[in-house]
Amino acid sequence: MYQKLKTCLESVRAKTDFQPAAGLVLGSGLGDYADGIKVIQTIDYAEIEGFPRSTVKGHKGRFVFGRVGTVPVVIMQGRVHYYEGYPMSDVVLPVRLMGLLGIKTLVLTNAAGGINPDFRPGDFMMITDHITTGVPSPLIGANPNPLGPRFPDMSEVYSKRLQQVIRTCAEECAISLKEGVYVQLTGPNYETPAEIRMCRGWGGDAVGMSTACEAMAARHMGLEVCGISCITNLAAGLSQVQLDHKEVQETADRVSGDFKKLITAVIEKL
Ligand code: HPA
Repeated sequence: MYQKLKTCLESVRAKTDFQPAAGLVLGSGLGDYADGIKVIQTIDYAEIEGFPRSTVKGHKGRFVFGRVGTVPVVIMQGRVHYYEGYPMSDVVLPVRLMGLLGIKTLVLTNAAGGINPDFRPGDFMMITDHITTGVPSPLIGANPNPLGPRFPDMSEVYSKRLQQVIRTCAEECAISLKEGVYVQLTGPNYETPAEIRMCRGWGGDAVGMSTACEAMAARHMGLEVCGISCITNLAAGLSQVQLDHKEVQETADRVSGDFKKLITAVIEKL
């Protein structure tokens, strides 16, 4: 795994010497954020030797290097999901690669189903913590010491400092912000109503198929992490309608203006 990561790093470094300070991962329906920033260079995942590629419709697969305000960023336009069949070590490889490119801060976004009965489609939820009982740890396997310790602490995966930054930015942008615990399950199927009741019993507020594993890999490397979910739908059993990917994308598209505003404000204040 570490060798593969280093090969990817060499491949990227052969194409750019850009030094990003922050990394941003764009979730479903939010992929066009990168089109609105000052782009300096893009690298398609396909151009990176050994890099896993996403197969999901609506996910572009490339790194965008550029600036948000004065902050040099690398944006992942399209992520790799566990349900696509990759091993977890491949799912988190892009985040680790951004770590090796020099980012200090990681901003994660996603689309998620709302479990908390106070949540409505179109809400934003700042992630305060997560539950990954539904997926294998991305840290299973030999531990490359240069990346981080064998038994890393996970008591503050989502930085309290960054949580305060996000709250302040949401307030300044007059964007309503919910907070809660994100539960990662494998997908690709949506959950059953019984599974959603279980997630609620665990203490979850939103459910999705990404993000938490990336946050763990980033924390393992000592990066400062934050995350925002776009609640695109009520989770299974909480409404009468059946779940589909189209609804998820439509809601994400509908609120993408506010989402972009919030993300920009957060990055400028990192
Ligand atoms: N469940 C899991 N993942 C999701 C959902 C959901 O309801 N909505 C968006 N991503």
